[in-house]
Amino acid sequence: MSEIYTLHVNGQEREVRDAWIGENLLYVLRERLGLMAAKGACEQGECGSCSVQVGGELVCACLVMAAAAVDEPIVTVEGLGDAPTDVQRAFVDTGAVQCGFCTPGLIIAAHHLLEQHSEPTEMQIREELSGNVCRCTGYGRIIEAVQQVAVTRREGAR
Ligand code: FES
Ligand code: FES
Repeated sequence: MSEIYTLHVNGQEREVRDAWIGENLLYVLRERLGLMAAKGACEQGECGSCSVQVGGELVCACLVMAAAAVDEPIVTVEGLGDAPTDVQRAFVDTGAVQCGFCTPGLIIAAHHLLEQHSEPTEMQIREELSGNVCRCTGYGRIIEAVQQVAVTRREGAR
């Protein structure tokens, strides 16, 4: 059965036409709406490369039926702004990016973490990002990037 429904993605109403009702959100974002930041790897909730926010929660888009997200605001890396965010710049500055495949998932996870905790401990950062697998850089520089953003934001708020 094909369906038409509307998703609220990155502040815009995006109509999804002729979709199979069981398509997951990752597929719909990438293949139907052209939003390529969220990546598919494991497709079973193990790697975090497909992370997005749905209704303010961090989720694996590969595990969410797109049609079940019609009433929720969805945020992908594309929705964080046209210019690189402080989180994205910190990943570059600290060398937290190598091949970059995991990076969009980690960026949205770090963005989510810093919304919840303005002064995250290293343990909180490790726990919050533990659902995101990186095969290239190791995690030291990723953690450093998040810490750098937290410090810079606090200093900017003074
Ligand atoms: S592709 Fe969704 S968690 Fe790996
Ligand atoms: S930078 Fe390559 S998987 Fe993380």
